[in-house]
Amino acid sequence: MCGIVGYIGNKEAYPILMNGLKRLEYRGYDSAGIALLNGQPLLYKKKGKVNDLENYISDSIISGQLGIGHTRWATHGEPNDVNAHPHTSEHGKFIIIHNGIIENYARIKEKLEIRGVTFKSATDTEVLANLIEYIYIKGQVTAEIAVRLALSKVEGAYGLVILCVDEPDRLIAARKGSPLVVGVGDEEYFIASDATPIVEHTKSVIYLNDDDVAIIKKDELVLKTVKNDKQTPIVHQLDLDVGEIDKSGYDHFMLKEIFEQPKSILDTFRGRVAPDLSGLNLGGLFNVIPQMVKAKRIIIVACGTSWHAGLLGEYLMEDMARIPVEVEYASEFRYRNPIINMDDIVIAISQSGETADTLAAIRLAKEKGALVLGICNVVGSSIPRETDAGVYTHAGPEIGVASTKAFTTQVTVLAMMAMVMGHKRGYLSDKKYLGLIKELTEIPGKIEKILVKSDACKELATLYQRATNFLYLGRGYFFPVALEGALKLKEISYIHAEGYPAAEMKHGPIALIDQNMPVVVIATKDKSYDKIVSNIQEVKARNGVVIAIVTEGDSVIRKLADHVFEVPESNIAFEGLLTVVPLQLLSYYIAVMRGCNVDQPRNLAKSVTVE
Ligand code: F6R
Repeated sequence: MCGIVGYIGNKEAYPILMNGLKRLEYRGYDSAGIALLNGQPLLYKKKGKVNDLENYISDSIISGQLGIGHTRWATHGEPNDVNAHPHTSEHGKFIIIHNGIIENYARIKEKLEIRGVTFKSATDTEVLANLIEYIYIKGQVTAEIAVRLALSKVEGAYGLVILCVDEPDRLIAARKGSPLVVGVGDEEYFIASDATPIVEHTKSVIYLNDDDVAIIKKDELVLKTVKNDKQTPIVHQLDLDVGEIDKSGYDHFMLKEIFEQPKSILDTFRGRVAPDLSGLNLGGLFNVIPQMVKAKRIIIVACGTSWHAGLLGEYLMEDMARIPVEVEYASEFRYRNPIINMDDIVIAISQSGETADTLAAIRLAKEKGALVLGICNVVGSSIPRETDAGVYTHAGPEIGVASTKAFTTQVTVLAMMAMVMGHKRGYLSDKKYLGLIKELTEIPGKIEKILVKSDACKELATLYQRATNFLYLGRGYFFPVALEGALKLKEISYIHAEGYPAAEMKHGPIALIDQNMPVVVIATKDKSYDKIVSNIQEVKARNGVVIAIVTEGDSVIRKLADHVFEVPESNIAFEGLLTVVPLQLLSYYIAVMRGCNVDQPRNLAKSVTVE
């Protein structure tokens, strides 16, 4: 949520900041702002997208070699020019950008108001700016000390970058709960909430840890904690290319990411599937496999699309490894005093690795002594750093706000985990295990075959773009796919959609069905095929419109449904990876036809770092 970028060095900061904001806009897009120090501070901020800010600044002469920029996803205060970041303290000494929430801001604000401080905005960030300034002026201390003292008084989460007009040779950055990455250049430093604005300048980065404060001059970075303990910065090398964060000719990142799925899954396999398909090697879990094999229970925690992947993980692991699995929304799990035993394994799934609720669930599980594993996409993000072991999906950067390749690569990892555990626990014979490996490795090629038919999804989208409600039905492995299809549609096209287990339809949702209700049914051939055929008949009997995702060559459903989209046959356990693709495409084309902003849907942000 919210994107942060900063620069200090010998170059003009403005183009670096503006370009950085464009890269970060997927994190939040209700307002944006930039501040530079060049003798006097220069500050521009505007409600709306980064382009609105750029147009607003266009005629101004804006120069300086030190600056900060922010793109906002509102938490406190409506999106408008005043609430946009950067925020300036009352006497103009401090200019700050902030990602996160200061939970005790109201109490601090009250105390500052009693002391005569006045506020312009409704944000928690301005409260922090004024607290820092108050300590700075009253205490006659340096900016760094004022920042550290102020941070020792705040509760909540922050990723912060701060300018002090009296100390124009430095940026001060601080992190607690909201990620910050520092790019190390030649006599220059970059700072950002993720590596996407940094990678085109340098691949050497320092990830700040919680409670870190960095004092950054163009030729020096000093790292300490809020309590003033010196820290040694560790420089990592980014494994990310600029090409990966471009649209590469596609109209939208989401479309690019849908089409990237065969490659992303191959990247997930890389180094893990033996070239002769004789086994799987999940290196990141090497030390914990014995514990996993003996686990009495697995609890999967995640949010949104990652939660849907987790549900598929439950089916895969129970089916193949015969271990009981529970799948929990991280936000519910963390607050409901869950029973977690020492021999439970908790698996956290997250594309961004920064989702606040998932992080909190991990911390709770660790406190209770469980082994905690992560399945994450963003290398170096918080979740992989806080889990005991884990597997990266290696899907590459996912910029479109609606998750697509993250889902399929998460499911791929979960399938590999289930297969490894099932084999080691003796539930999968060598023959079955090898057969499954072969079938899993065929999935990317089968997705290619589906993508070639994307025009068929476009035609469906033309027909149903004006629908106001959609129902998605699936049984077994396809129930999570139905949920995911419905989520994709509602988040980017704003059409109301619900996913249901097909058999549950007659317990309520069937009342909704009429000739205006498209019902998407995932109905590939498996053991409950006959049942799903009956469900389709039930919909047709009520004049519902059926769009069925079926196995290639299906002739029965073809006669019943209004439309069919065929997917290649595979092992049922892996068909979720295939059937979700036409649903992603359908949502994408409907959203485009409705004129929605596919990559930046309203009210959403890519990584949800607030509760
Ligand atoms: C939906 C979507 C969200 C995320 C959710 C969890 O398309 O993107 O529902 O899946 O916010 O995010 P991560 O996986 O980053 O923890």
